[in-house]
Formats: sequence, structure tokens, C-alpha cells
Amino acid sequence: MGKELSLKVQRFDPSVEKGPRFQEYAVPWKDGMTVLDALLYARDKLDHGIAMRFSCRMASCGSCGMKVNGRPRLACETQVADLRSETITVQPMDNFPVVRDLVVDLESFFAKHAGLSPGLARKSDPQEQESPTGEYLMTPKELDSFVQFTYCIKCGLCSSSCPTSSTDSLFPGPQALAQAYRFLEDVRDEATEERLDSVDSQHGVWRCHFAGTCSAVCPKGVDPALGIQLLKRHVMAARSPLGRRKAKRKTGTELFPNPNKDLLKSP
Ligand code: SF4
Ligand code: FES
Repeated sequence: MGKELSLKVQRFDPSVEKGPRFQEYAVPWKDGMTVLDALLYARDKLDHGIAMRFSCRMASCGSCGMKVNGRPRLACETQVADLRSETITVQPMDNFPVVRDLVVDLESFFAKHAGLSPGLARKSDPQEQESPTGEYLMTPKELDSFVQFTYCIKCGLCSSSCPTSSTDSLFPGPQALAQAYRFLEDVRDEATEERLDSVDSQHGVWRCHFAGTCSAVCPKGVDPALGIQLLKRHVMAARSPLGRRKAKRKTGTELFPNPNKDLLKSP
């Protein structure tokens, strides 16, 4: 008989159960097997009821984020062999409400992302932006200053690992703040003042105390912790006596009103 691994899956349906429990499945081990492969085997052959999310199976869509042996990872990217353990424990990501089993509610995560206006804002030629007639040019060096942040696939692993996100439900989280930095740094963007105001608040950029877990778990090599520190530097430079301007309000403004504010939920 071939080698088997023991797959322990956290099961929980909040609509009918009081708390989570673990269910164990014996899965035949195969060379090149990923944690997602093991889960799919368990779901297809042993228990159709396991709830999980996945799509691309190639670390691109960001939908299979979960805790694997205690660490936030993409299940489709995690090789079973690399875990060096015959027991694999899978749990839903922390800091998000559980919908069922391994599926979490990411509504507040996407609302926070949308709340920091993750798109180019042009004030000088808004009409042109709607119907572009050419490219907005930048130099390779200018692109280098933010390009790593464009690799984000919005998997939520960084926010699930963040100690501040676990204690402050209004904190935008590393993903959204890194995107705020990405657009602030983009020479084509013209909403600098609004972007600074939107992160300079009591629940904003200053709540990050640089634990660095976000960058440690990111599967795409993005360094959100770095982006947040650079964002702080931009805010401090703008607010200094020699800076361009003073803060309009100390607790942040809503020049970028968040259309999804009502969706922000506590974990
Ligand atoms: S920064 Fe990395 S960990 Fe965070 S959402 Fe983007 S890809 Fe995922
Ligand atoms: S299934 Fe798309 S990232 Fe894992």
C-alpha cells in the first residue's frame, strides 16, 4: 500500500454549530501533490461536504488562501512534500468571519481595498482618462518604485496574519495600505493630497507597528510592510513644517468616500 498523509480539516458551519471541530481524512500521497490536491481528493472521494474556495490552481486568482499547519498560505501553491509532515492541518484564515469550513467572508477585505481608491486618479484631464488617446508615460525607474505592489492578487493572507487587523476592524490592513502607497507613488496619479488624508487617521497607517508578518506570508513577493513604512514617510514629509501642507483633519477625511463602508465587519 502506498504512503498516506493525514489531512485534518477544520469543519464549522456557524449557522448550525457552536464551534469548530477537526475531521481527519487519509489521503494517498503522490509526488508533486499540493495541499489543494489533497483537499480535492478528500472532498471528491471521501466527503463532499467540505467547503473550500479555489479557482485557478496556479497561485494567480488568490481564492485558496487558508492556514496550513498554522501558517497562512495558498493551498494550490503549497507542496505537501515541502511541509515535511505526514499530518497536514488546514484551517480558515484568521481575522475574517467564517462562512463555512475553509471559506471566509472577504467582503470587508475588498471594501477596505476599494475604500482607498485603487485606481489612477487624474485631475488635469478626467475626460481624457475616460476616453484615452494615448499612453501615460513613465520611466523604468519610476515604475520600479511601485511595481512590486502591482503583483498583489488580493488573497488576504497578509491581512489574516496581521496583529493590528485582528484588534482593529477599522484598520485598512496591509493589502489596502500597500495599494494606497502603490498609487501615491505612481507619477501618473494626481490625487496625492486625498490619498495622504485617507490613510492619515487614528485607524490608518499609524496603527501599523511593523510586525512584518504580512510580508513574510505574501505568496507573490509583495512587501506590504515596506509599503506602509514608506507611506508613513510620505505623510510625515507632507505634514512637516517644510511639507507641502498640514493635515486638514486629525482623524482622517472622506475625500475618497468608501462606497462599501457599511460592509466593514469585525472579525
Ligand atoms: S499583498 Fe500579498 S498576501 Fe497581501 S493580498 Fe496581496 S498577494 Fe496576498
Ligand atoms: S486556486 Fe487560485 S490562487 Fe490558489
